Amino acid sequence: MEWNDGKPAPDLSGRDFLKLLDFSTEEILYLLNLAGRLKAEKKAGAAPGRSMHKTMFPGKNIALIFEKNSTRTRCSFEVAAHDLGLGTTYLGPTGSQIGEKESIEDTARVLGSMYEGIEYRGFGQSIVEELAEYADVPVWNGLTNEFHPTQMLADFLTVKEAFSELRGRKLCFMGDARYNMGNSYMVACAKLGVDYAACCPKEYFPDQELQARCREIASSNGSSILLTEDVEEGCHEADVICTDVWVSMGEPDEVWEQRIHDLLPYQVNMRALSFAREGCIFLHCLPSFHDTKTGIGKKIEERFGLKEMEVTDEVFESSHSRVFAEAENRMHTIKAVIYATLGGAV
Ligand code: CP
Ligand code: NVA
Repeated sequence: MEWNDGKPAPDLSGRDFLKLLDFSTEEILYLLNLAGRLKAEKKAGAAPGRSMHKTMFPGKNIALIFEKNSTRTRCSFEVAAHDLGLGTTYLGPTGSQIGEKESIEDTARVLGSMYEGIEYRGFGQSIVEELAEYADVPVWNGLTNEFHPTQMLADFLTVKEAFSELRGRKLCFMGDARYNMGNSYMVACAKLGVDYAACCPKEYFPDQELQARCREIASSNGSSILLTEDVEEGCHEADVICTDVWVSMGEPDEVWEQRIHDLLPYQVNMRALSFAREGCIFLHCLPSFHDTKTGIGKKIEERFGLKEMEVTDEVFESSHSRVFAEAENRMHTIKAVIYATLGGAV
């Protein structure tokens, strides 16, 4: 298959998809391009025989391990697999032997013998790395505490759809910049030549070693990394403003009070957007606490009197918000990752 002015497509068959640091700029751009093509093809309902869908992987199956809850990632893997003719097995936070009675190493060898690929969502990045080490089939990271790489493909496909060109854009992440979403944006921006700003209290700045690595990558791609506590500076002329929940899955309830205290000044609201470019877009991986229509939203309102947290309902529902296009793009981009790593695209 060719892409980008007739160049041969990068061969990603057999590769794991664990974090964007493992991929070159060219490979990431290729996956975005492939996702765009798969999306267009699905929307057009391409004729059988000429389609990248359905007939690609007959009789093949993938396993989906979720040690944490999920709506988008699970549904994206299942729909993408179905569209490509793959069978799926879902292994949820309970009900399998993983972790309690069986090690990751043994699980990898068992599932690797039955499935053509394995998705893993869970806790430490070292777990998904270990799974990949012992499984002879591609392993895909569906979110760890440190990284959320499939989310990045969806986000940057959404940015591409909004602005065409990625290089030279500015993205500002507001909130806990040292966790999976903040880390992943910093890496993705560095790889794609997008200026990155993390805007939060300094205690929430990303790990020094990761920062240093990303600064090196960013400078080779002509972009910059800014860490700032100043909302106006962080959001200044941003094309993309994004955020994430203040307390992530697996973190204890007790941290809420401190997080609200520390991160409320970094809520994405209309004031923050006023410093950005006029046509700036708002992204959020979701789920989001922008109202009190959820269980956690109600609890937080009772405990702290807050009706919205990391983003105001006004921004979430505004014309700047691309969050549902972003959510849909999870499926198209995950399909590209499955397709390319299972050898469908070369
Ligand atoms: N954005 C995201 O990963 O959503 P889920 O937790 O619903 O999969
Ligand atoms: N930081 C969030 C992302 C959810 C998609 C979490 O880990 O819960």
